[in-house]
Amino acid sequence: MRAMSCSRYGGPEVLELVERPMPAPGPGQLRVRVVASSVNPIDWKLVSGILRPLVPSFPFVPGYDIAGQVDAVGTGVSGFAVGQRVHARIGAMSAGGSAEYALAGVDVTCAMPEGMSYADAAGLPLAGMTALQGLRDRAGLVMRGSTQRVLVVGASGGVGHYAVQIAVAAGATVVGVSSGRNTALVRQLGAVEALDYTVPDVLRGQAPFDIVYQSVGHDYATYLPLLRPGGCFVTPIPGPSTFVRALANPFARNPVRAIMLKSNAADLAVLDQLYEAGALKTVVDSRFPLERLADAWQRSISGRAVGKVIVDVSGDGSADVPAE
Ligand SMILES: NC(=O)c1ccc[n+]([C@@H]2O[C@H](COP(=O)([O-])OP(=O)(O)OC[C@H]3O[C@@H](n4cnc5c(N)ncnc54)[C@H](OP(=O)(O)O)[C@@H]3O)[C@@H](O)[C@H]2O)c1
Repeated sequence: MRAMSCSRYGGPEVLELVERPMPAPGPGQLRVRVVASSVNPIDWKLVSGILRPLVPSFPFVPGYDIAGQVDAVGTGVSGFAVGQRVHARIGAMSAGGSAEYALAGVDVTCAMPEGMSYADAAGLPLAGMTALQGLRDRAGLVMRGSTQRVLVVGASGGVGHYAVQIAVAAGATVVGVSSGRNTALVRQLGAVEALDYTVPDVLRGQAPFDIVYQSVGHDYATYLPLLRPGGCFVTPIPGPSTFVRALANPFARNPVRAIMLKSNAADLAVLDQLYEAGALKTVVDSRFPLERLADAWQRSISGRAVGKVIVDVSGDGSADVPAE
């Protein structure tokens, strides 16, 4: 099979198209013929070496988000059949999504909902679950009939655009922060206000919030004064000062919390149900064929992606066909 692989640390230039043996599914695993995958910043951060000692073992096939068709099932698998359309955030350290075939544990895999394309399905798992778990589990978003007021900083990004939609679907009043280029999109996603971070003092008059979810930036101290007593600040990118604050003062008026994604099928199913209800969609920033994964990474590294960068792995035009 064809795969994009790297055998040393570096930037997108270390990615190369290689032939690899087809992986064999182990117990509890599916082999998936990957139709589409998506890029997440963790892909290029791991290969850059900045997250050492979280090191991939080389040669390394990056990519955590996949959507495709079940091609073979391992022993002990029930509930999945060859030919079924599925999506998953695979991996832990092994990754492997930037290849024509990848292994997915059944514990992290869901059948794609009706109407969802492979491209949309590939965008959702990692970023969507990071948004969901941060809001619901770390910050206490009430998932139905929420009366909370939620600020999403980074509202146009992969994680942020899902966070806006999840909070809106819960019933919360959502304010999003993006650049002026993306405020219209953030409103389309359901935010009552979209604030342009290039405008000085743009947050004035917006407090109080019950939850601040910051997916871009490290300046938690800016947002603490905007929280109600008991309101929570949560981020998937905790800097050292965020960790110190979180550990030093767990009983503070406003908890500061980090979210580390735990991939699981139950949470992906929650997102799929929101999709089926028409409350969640994947905004696609751009698309690249597998052999241009380096360009897809460059787009992600630019920090300007709006929604998700999708990789058309199979290249057979089926990535846009909705599931039946
Ligand atoms: N802990 C975990 O488990 C976990 C899981 C997933 C992701 N993450 C991390 O979360 C971060 C976000 O991931 P992502 O996929 O959402 O990234 P992304 O899609 O690459 O974010 C890009 C977006 O950020 C916006 N942006 C840039 N500067 C901004 C600012 N100052 N204020 C508001 N928005 C700004 C950009 O919009 P403009 O062009 O308009 O500025 C763009 O739409 C990454 O660092 C990633 O590694 C962590």
